[in-house]
Amino acid sequence: MRHKNILVLGGSGFIGSALVGKLSGQGRRVRVATRRYEDGRHLILLPTVDLVETDINQPGALEALVHGADAVVNLVGVLHGGRGKPYGPGFAQAHVEIPRMLVDAARAAGVRRVLHVSALGVSDADPAGLPSMYLRSKAAGEQVIRGARDIDWTIFRPSLAFGDRDRFTRLFARMAKYLPIIPVARGDAAIQPVWVGDIARAIAKSIDASWANGRCFELAGPEVATLGEVVEASARWSGRPRLVWNLPDDIGRLQATALEFAPGPTLMTRDNFDTLGVPNVASGPMAPELDIEPIAMSGVVPDYLVEDDDVYIPRRAKAGR
Ligand SMILES: NC(=O)c1ccc[n+]([C@@H]2O[C@H](COP(=O)([O-])OP(=O)(O)OC[C@H]3O[C@@H](n4cnc5c(N)ncnc54)[C@H](OP(=O)(O)O)[C@@H]3O)[C@@H](O)[C@H]2O)c1
Repeated sequence: MRHKNILVLGGSGFIGSALVGKLSGQGRRVRVATRRYEDGRHLILLPTVDLVETDINQPGALEALVHGADAVVNLVGVLHGGRGKPYGPGFAQAHVEIPRMLVDAARAAGVRRVLHVSALGVSDADPAGLPSMYLRSKAAGEQVIRGARDIDWTIFRPSLAFGDRDRFTRLFARMAKYLPIIPVARGDAAIQPVWVGDIARAIAKSIDASWANGRCFELAGPEVATLGEVVEASARWSGRPRLVWNLPDDIGRLQATALEFAPGPTLMTRDNFDTLGVPNVASGPMAPELDIEPIAMSGVVPDYLVEDDDVYIPRRAKAGR
């Protein structure tokens, strides 16, 4: 069955933008919900994309959006959600409440197809055993989706996603600009970064596929590395090779605490530190049905990191991007 009208929640974000571009390229009509029109402005030039400013947390908003959709993709997620047990209020709202409201709204509107983006590191075992609020809330969100027996659901668990506009390789490149040695908390954490374009392909490919119903797909790249190795490579690819100092865990946690309370945009929290305590590695290769040969970081990242920020950022600002 061809699902023509797709509602994308979280479509203004990093992965969402790649997905919306892909879906539009396939000729589907895409409705993207954002709380700030400005944040999704880069999508409005895409043909067949309808950007709607609305707050899906408000009563009735999701019902209105879901109306007329053939399928919904949920990419809503936060990295920082306050503290609490088993998770802070921001995590509860974004990762658990929104899936719950989405299932209810889809059911009421007769929309059967829901694709939900979770995270690698969430396991099918008891969520209470997971070490961070991020992972516990993501696990609870998955349970909400899996419990919707009248919905044809698919869950995706991506590893750390890279690509132009990602929030980590550019950060490491920027750190290399100012620091002779880069101190990294959880530098020995195992990760398997996946290209944002491969995530978008996997989701787009699954929308119409009956083989994807009721399944959970891990999405990871071709290489397992440590976080420290990725920091080192990002610095090198940006043209500023640096030594990386993998902090011992007690100092790393202290660094995470300091960054959590530092003014300005939050770079890291204690919860992010705890999330990295679980290997972010897939249990096997990508599912063959997805038909994706995942791209390595070295095939993509050097191309965009090599642009000098001193030239690139002012140029973007001048172009209003
Ligand atoms: N990026 C990664 O490396 C990675 C790895 C594993 C899993 N994931 C998961 O993949 C999904 C997309 O990640 P991303 O990196 O693309 O995230 P992102 O760039 O931060 O975008 C997040 C999106 O979620 C929406 N959102 C956040 N909180 C919301 C709330 N309370 N109510 C309504 N909308 C809210 C935002 O919409 P507005 O436009 O309204 O602000 C935004 O479009 C998330 O679920 C994330 O947990 C990401």
